[in-house]
Amino acid sequence: MGNKVFTVSILGCGSRGHYAYGRCMKEHFSDKFKIVTVCDIDPKKIQLAKEDWGITDENCFISSEEFFKEKRSDALVIATQDQDHVPMCIKALELGYDVLLEKPITSNEDELYALLDAYNKYNRKVIVCHVLRYAPAYLKMKSLIDEGQIGKLICIDWIEQVTYWHQSHSFVRGNWRRSEDTSPMILAKCCHDLDLLQYYADSKCDSVYSVGDLSFFNKANQPEGAADRCADCKYVNDCVYSAERLYVEKRRKDFDWIREKPEVNEEHRRQGWPFNVVDLTRPITDESIRKAYQNSDYGRCVFACDNNVVDNQMVSMQFKNGVRANLTMTAFTSHPGRKVTFHGTYGEIEMDEENDYIRLSRYGRGTQFFSIKQLNREIVDDTFGHGGGDVMLVRDLYNALAGVGSMGTSLDKSIESHLMGIAAEKSRKTGKVYKIHD
Ligand SMILES: NC(=O)c1ccc[n+]([C@@H]2O[C@H](COP(=O)([O-])OP(=O)(O)OC[C@H]3O[C@@H](n4cnc5c(N)ncnc54)[C@H](O)[C@@H]3O)[C@@H](O)[C@H]2O)c1
Repeated sequence: MGNKVFTVSILGCGSRGHYAYGRCMKEHFSDKFKIVTVCDIDPKKIQLAKEDWGITDENCFISSEEFFKEKRSDALVIATQDQDHVPMCIKALELGYDVLLEKPITSNEDELYALLDAYNKYNRKVIVCHVLRYAPAYLKMKSLIDEGQIGKLICIDWIEQVTYWHQSHSFVRGNWRRSEDTSPMILAKCCHDLDLLQYYADSKCDSVYSVGDLSFFNKANQPEGAADRCADCKYVNDCVYSAERLYVEKRRKDFDWIREKPEVNEEHRRQGWPFNVVDLTRPITDESIRKAYQNSDYGRCVFACDNNVVDNQMVSMQFKNGVRANLTMTAFTSHPGRKVTFHGTYGEIEMDEENDYIRLSRYGRGTQFFSIKQLNREIVDDTFGHGGGDVMLVRDLYNALAGVGSMGTSLDKSIESHLMGIAAEKSRKTGKVYKIHD
């Protein structure tokens, strides 16, 4: 890495803008990046950014129009909500920024191409935050496949375990619950997975077929006599989806677990996601987060929200080189992370994030295990999100700005996964098979 310090603006200082990229730049790369400007429509988020990064008042903006009146730094992190990514990124390119752009880019194909045109026209760098591409365990699987350890790759089984609590938080009560306001869930939650699938298949996708629906989180499944807000509900202490259990009890348990891990930055974990989305108080307490959910959308019954995105979806993919893949995304899991199997002509690779292993089995020639945590720790601080992928992505941004490395997930490389996701959603809605490049 070089010696130059690049100035950065952060547009959207929420969970990702503040706690993933801002924090990472501050804690890991303070000699490489200086956060100079922030913009968020929520003044409370601006206040937290000021507290953490010492940004002066004149460099804090609560209007993106005002922020975009001039170029304010070398690079810009765009971590606003999904539907704002493309218009903001085009403005940024016009002003001459290099951009770290949160995923998904968009769920609208015309917007995707409009951004690609601007990217080609202004010739700036755009890295899309497909963070798992940078996570050591995912890179390890790629190298095992490319080394030919399992012979020729024939097909891939891929499960994205959303978990019952993440579904409730983000896709039933939270920002990604309504298709009118956000991306289809297959892009919001799985554009990483689609991106990785075509990366491992090493081919463009030819066609997709998808099924899925919202099968559980609706009024028909609300227990008899339940109230529409958890605080008023007789099931508040029994229902596994109750806000009391997911925010107050779960935070307490997560924190207990962290107490036993001295290496984890306690202050960070105590504030940790998703609790710091519900409650901006510092430090969060049982009382503060209870009050926060009681006064927000996060206190609603999961069976009485205005959500309409799916809670389970499957996508079958045929790649141009003959590789096939199945992706299952489901809310109905107790643990998070991916479970993946690569089936080859001479062996298979299984990965189970929750159970911390990659298993390489070469037919008739034995089995080798790798610990995911160990692989991560050899390379990166994996207490940051996505198995250390967030840190590695920020490092890639630095290298790209300094002109010393390739962008693993540049905009042009990220188009394919989005075309796959858009086609999968069309297929889910129509029941038809979609060719990607028609
Ligand atoms: N790369 C990943 O793995 C990953 C993981 C989770 C979320 N995401 C994506 O990152 C993005 C941000 O997600 P998040 O979880 O941080 O959400 P968030 O709601 O916590 O943060 C978004 C922030 O943008 C601010 N904002 C909204 N409109 C704005 C505007 N017009 N101008 C300025 N600020 C504005 C909001 O006030 C909020 O603080 C989303 O697109 C999401 O899909 C990516």
